[in-house]
Amino acid sequence: MTEKNILVSASILGCDLANIESEIKRIEKAGADFVHFDVMDGVFVDNISFGLPVLKSAKTKTNLPFDVHLMITEPEKYIAEFAKAGADIITFHSEAAKDIKKCIDICRKNGCKVGISVKPNTPASEVFPFLGEVDMVLVMTVEPGFGGQGFLPFTLEKIEQIRKRADKLSLDIDIQVDGGITDETCKDVKKSGANILVAGTYLFKADNMKKAVELLK
Ligand code: DX5
Ligand code: ZN
Repeated sequence: MTEKNILVSASILGCDLANIESEIKRIEKAGADFVHFDVMDGVFVDNISFGLPVLKSAKTKTNLPFDVHLMITEPEKYIAEFAKAGADIITFHSEAAKDIKKCIDICRKNGCKVGISVKPNTPASEVFPFLGEVDMVLVMTVEPGFGGQGFLPFTLEKIEQIRKRADKLSLDIDIQVDGGITDETCKDVKKSGANILVAGTYLFKADNMKKAVELLK
């Protein structure tokens, strides 16, 4: 199995959103590697979060790269705008895209890295045909829509399947996990082959965020 550095992407869905600038500074100081920006449209998932104007503004407050997780239907309609608003990596859901190839192309054309995501019950085989074309696969470890849920252990097998397949094809992709990640649950996901850990509640509820980031790594 490929050994990769563990990176942490802090989900600001779990922060004090009225003080987003200081919360992002806190993430920075704690040593997180990305700002994870969860976009929800109330259709693909049963929740509405934030979108383009917030990204545009938040982007001016930090040099950390923005890892944008689109939980929206027909992502092909909005990818270019999220790229222009400051996304560095754009992840869309395989279940939501009408045309996965087209989504990948729009990300690339707009200078973004590309991630493809699968919900807990979507099989690994859905992303296999695209492993050579994306930078990252995001394996949801909870049902998308809300922070603060419990990690679903049955997703570990899928992480392993994707890492094995990528290794077999000599593809150096990132595998990101998102949902219920803590200093405990991170152990198994890392063992299974994930190397980018999204964390919201665990980081923002920690007494010492820097220590929490270190424990995840
Ligand atoms: C859930 C989001 C996650 C969420 C993670 O749909 O995609 O990024 O913020 O939150 P925690 O770490 O609290 O599970
Ligand atoms: Zn997310």
